[in-house]
Amino acid sequence: MEKTRETFGSRFAVIMAMAGSAIGLGNIWRFPYMVGQYGGAAFIIVYIACSFLLALPIFLSETIIGRRSRTNTFGAMEKLAPGTSWKWLGLLTVISPVIILSYYSVVGGWSVEYLFKSLSFEFTDTDAGSIQSLFGTFISSTWEPLITHTLFMLMVAGIILAGVKSGIERFTKITMPVLFVLIVVMMIYAISLPGSGAGVSYLLKPDFSKLTMSAVAAAMGQAFFSLSLGVGTILTYASYVKKDENIFASSIGTAVSDILFALLAGFAIMPAVFASGVEPGAGPGLVFQTLPFIFNKMGTAMPVVSSLVSIIFFVTILVAALTSAISMMEVGVSYLVDNKGMSRLWATVTVTVFAWAVGILCSLSFGPLSEVKILGNSIFDFLDKMCSNFLMAFGGLLFTLFVGWKMDEASVRDEFTNGGTKKRNSRWFKTVYFLIKYVAPVAIVLIFVTNLIIS
Ligand code: PFF
Repeated sequence: MEKTRETFGSRFAVIMAMAGSAIGLGNIWRFPYMVGQYGGAAFIIVYIACSFLLALPIFLSETIIGRRSRTNTFGAMEKLAPGTSWKWLGLLTVISPVIILSYYSVVGGWSVEYLFKSLSFEFTDTDAGSIQSLFGTFISSTWEPLITHTLFMLMVAGIILAGVKSGIERFTKITMPVLFVLIVVMMIYAISLPGSGAGVSYLLKPDFSKLTMSAVAAAMGQAFFSLSLGVGTILTYASYVKKDENIFASSIGTAVSDILFALLAGFAIMPAVFASGVEPGAGPGLVFQTLPFIFNKMGTAMPVVSSLVSIIFFVTILVAALTSAISMMEVGVSYLVDNKGMSRLWATVTVTVFAWAVGILCSLSFGPLSEVKILGNSIFDFLDKMCSNFLMAFGGLLFTLFVGWKMDEASVRDEFTNGGTKKRNSRWFKTVYFLIKYVAPVAIVLIFVTNLIIS
């Protein structure tokens, strides 16, 4: 099985696939809103520091495990630590991305719906007041969000079915550069709007007084979510990375792309929010509720331009969500193919049906099932909180402990330096190993404790 395992064709392909996983809804709605809430530039500085000092070591841990084992998360643990309980970590990280996929697909479906609305000039034709309620009416209805959730899931399944090279690699290699161009276009447009200056200074003016312990925990959590850590997606993608690829270089390339995209998205969204006079900090609603306002405001004067901008914007969100969602589905598919001997077709069908079914409950939890609560949360919120606050951090902690304490140092060094052939990696090894072994685990435990105290 190992001999026939597909691999990504080049470093560019590896970075585009991994950046595709990392860059998603987390960068477009979550990051700008958090920056606004936690002190603008001060938060950005902490976020960047967290990305390199904490998130990158976890990213590297997953990459080392994935490339070393060349199999899925469950198989990797069985292979590198045979006969131990580590395989349960593997199994946990097969299940968690599929759960994330189920509710991520619902939001992906919202972007499909908003793209349709942009294409039919709905934001330019509807009066601004109705746009506010449009979102609430749409997500709480029964059928429309289910249809778009299904459409989104089918797109994800279609790409996964095509395989690692012809599906994931080809799709991310084409769409990721386009995504960067689109977000830059959006940013230039947003900054050119009258009144956008306030948004720019909102992002640039450091307000250190807002930099509390919970802000630091939030910055760490954001770095985590944004780099898709702790749920085996990076591990699975790394299992398709060739033995001669420099994983340190491709990991840094991915982290830098992710941070850059988050910054670009921040500068595309906040100035637009300020220019329209809408309150920042609306969370998920920021993108879907407030931005159509802007398209609407300019729509009366320039309906075609307005529609075009809103189409570009929702295509950007859709593509970003798709490239992340495929990485989640691939974890389950890879497990079923490697360990359960399923064909890629049946593995894809199995994961799709499971995630789609759970997604139905998530979608309905905004409407007919809104009364159903799990520990005081709606089904959607419960799954989201369980995954992003708990499972991702827990998985990340265990991955770093595995590489730092379970694997022997010589194997880790061998994988990180490609058998000693990458001289620069050899120079960095001690620092990276220290970060993986001590800094990252301690920091993750601190996030847990802080979150416990806050909540
Ligand atoms: N990193 C993605 C984002 O920022 O939207 C979210 C994500 C992708 C989370 C893949 C988990 C995952 F496995």
